[in-house]
Amino acid sequence: MNQITANTTAAVDFSFWFIIAISVVMLIGVTGAMVWFAFRYHHKRNPNPTHVPDNHLLEIVWTVIPTFIVLAMFWYGYKGFLELRRVPADAMVINVTGAMWKWTFEYDNGRKTTNLIVPKDKSVKLLLKSVDVLHSFYIPAFRVKEDVLPGKETYLWFKPQGIGVADVFCAEFCGVQHAYMITKVEVLSPEDFQKWYDQPVGGDADTNRAVLAQFSPVIDEGAKLMQTKACLSCHKLDESRLVGPGLAKLYGSKQIVVVNNQEKEVTVDDAYLRRSLLEPHVELVKGYSNLMAPVPLTEAEVTALIEYMKTLQ
Ligand code: CUA
Repeated sequence: MNQITANTTAAVDFSFWFIIAISVVMLIGVTGAMVWFAFRYHHKRNPNPTHVPDNHLLEIVWTVIPTFIVLAMFWYGYKGFLELRRVPADAMVINVTGAMWKWTFEYDNGRKTTNLIVPKDKSVKLLLKSVDVLHSFYIPAFRVKEDVLPGKETYLWFKPQGIGVADVFCAEFCGVQHAYMITKVEVLSPEDFQKWYDQPVGGDADTNRAVLAQFSPVIDEGAKLMQTKACLSCHKLDESRLVGPGLAKLYGSKQIVVVNNQEKEVTVDDAYLRRSLLEPHVELVKGYSNLMAPVPLTEAEVTALIEYMKTLQ
């Protein structure tokens, strides 16, 4: 699956690497000169130091050149900042609500989702608000992060490039389940996005995931992986039991698992499914034997499988 980016990725990355490159050159230059001077002017080699007169030209050079270097850092940083804050007038607006502990996205036509679905190459403006405490909306792949506050609307924007999926995190500690306040941004082709968007608005986000399944390349990949990774030899796509549990209506359900001979209840969420794919023996559902081998999967494949399972409602 593609690694997706946005215009904002380039805006931030350029000044980041520019500053890193200058810092590395400075580090090597300053450390090298220091080591050389310590060796060359060691007092054993210079028992009687001579007086060195002021060198005004040298002083001007070592003041002026670094001044231009830090001004250049500022300039590229400032240009990147403007790119992040100047929203094009034709941007599509999506309302984002942060609540302990999930994100909700609401589109102009009233459709609500729990994943952020956007078209490729279209400017998207997110209006962010919180109904309870401080959160922070963060898409690392796009290099955008903005605090989400109760009582004050904030925003961010980006223009996604490439079709695929990327993580969305909450980056502000907001309570015990802060670490699970995770979702995805899915970038569809403009045609697929329009087809998805034009579907009748049907209630809650789960319904919309089923609608989305027709268009999403991520969910499509998940469906294919179910075959190629042989998941279906032991799991059925309905609710019935085979060797392992049926996968329909599994996501979001509560299950009793056995850990160290102790029973506990878990909610089948992204984190649980991820663990069950990568380390199936750790939180085994009560009543099933430890028969599943850990599946070697890339991060993108884990995501695709989980997104597919969410559609099996
Ligand atoms: Cu919301 Cu951390």
